[in-house]
Amino acid sequence: MQIAEAADTPVTESPVKVEMRLLNYAYMNLITSLIFNNPWAIAEPFKEVHKAKAATEDAIKHGKLKLPKNNDKIKVFIEMDEQFHKDTEELLEAARRRNMKWAEGVSNKLLTACIQCHKMFRN
Ligand code: HEC
Repeated sequence: MQIAEAADTPVTESPVKVEMRLLNYAYMNLITSLIFNNPWAIAEPFKEVHKAKAATEDAIKHGKLKLPKNNDKIKVFIEMDEQFHKDTEELLEAARRRNMKWAEGVSNKLLTACIQCHKMFRN
């Protein structure tokens, strides 16, 4: 029966969405930190993004991730995601060293990556 089936299937949101909302917050906070020259404010919200990434990786490992677009190109998604997280590590290193010129450069690179990945897998 349809209704019983629907009730049996738990409606879980994509872990990417959860991760992305945290990332969105971290990135907006990054922009504010750059504008007001607050290198010490950059890192904190990225900790939550990092935790959320584990759930996304778990979904990929179990073949449960469903991307809104180009779902058959999951390998490209993984590559882009890994590059993005490497660049995030670089950003955090720049912030630790209080090097705002460096942080600004990496932030620009990250923005381009947000747009590229969304073009391919979301929009
Ligand atoms: C490696 C790929 C990738 C990168 C990089 C990426 N995103 Fe996303 N993002 C996605 C995908 C895929 C979705 C759609 C998820 C879905 O709807 O299931 C998404 C969705 C979102 C959403 C909507 C979440 C929701 O609740 O529907 C926001 C906000 C977002 N991204 C922000 C960002 C920001 C800001 C950046 C860069 C700082 C970024 N993303 C970088 C892949 C990426």
